[in-house]
Amino acid sequence: MSDLGSGTTENRSFAELVTHQRACRRFDAGADLPDEDVLTMITHATHAPSAENSQPWEFVVIRSIETRRRFGDIMSEAWAIGGADYVRQAAPPTVYADIEDGIAAGGLLTAPVVVVVCADLDRVAEPWSAASIYPATQNLLLSAAYLGYGSCLTTGLTTIFADQVRDLLSLPSTVVPMAGVYLGRAARRLGLPRRDPAATHMHRETYGNSWT
Ligand SMILES: Cc1cc2nc3c(=O)[nH]c(=O)nc-3n(C[C@H](O)[C@H](O)[C@H](O)COP(=O)(O)O)c2cc1C
Repeated sequence: MSDLGSGTTENRSFAELVTHQRACRRFDAGADLPDEDVLTMITHATHAPSAENSQPWEFVVIRSIETRRRFGDIMSEAWAIGGADYVRQAAPPTVYADIEDGIAAGGLLTAPVVVVVCADLDRVAEPWSAASIYPATQNLLLSAAYLGYGSCLTTGLTTIFADQVRDLLSLPSTVVPMAGVYLGRAARRLGLPRRDPAATHMHRETYGNSWT
């Protein structure tokens, strides 16, 4: 990434980054993720757009093994009482296997850092809170990839179990957890993300008019 700066190379580097970034659910537990890199990622996250530039995000950075284990317990319980059945019928088998590895087989627990991305509803009206938080969260994922780290965006904890997360992290009542992002060095090289060709999701002028 040291070649950033000249036009074409910069474009190619961005294209590589954005087309290779994908969910990582098993991390090298021995590899460090220094605060300096966490700060860089969150700096990149906070350059995202937000409604009226309200910047309603708050990031709780968790290293504590106790808290990460508690997250793992909550997720395992959810998996056992219906989460696995839901994902099995909703997702292709390969995606199910990836998610199962992260939750039931403890892959996500190997992440040295979890960032819980929150929205402060004192600073943004609720209808715009998600649209103001997820661009920042995506910047966080891309920044992690840029710095050579794996990441996984999750919302199970911050939706179904939001109250437990709120208690664990002492969130004030106006601060809503929106995503749990697991970060660390990937334990193994990830393949390319599986995505449909963009044109299959594009419509020319009106819906249903094929792009091609
Ligand atoms: C809104 C949202 C919620 C997600 N929640 C979870 C989750 O709870 N657990 C998990 O392991 N992955 C979660 N993911 C990651 C998706 O499973 C992943 O982005 C998708 O399967 C594509 O996988 P890939 O990036 O490996 O291609 C979530 C992604 C999004 C956008």
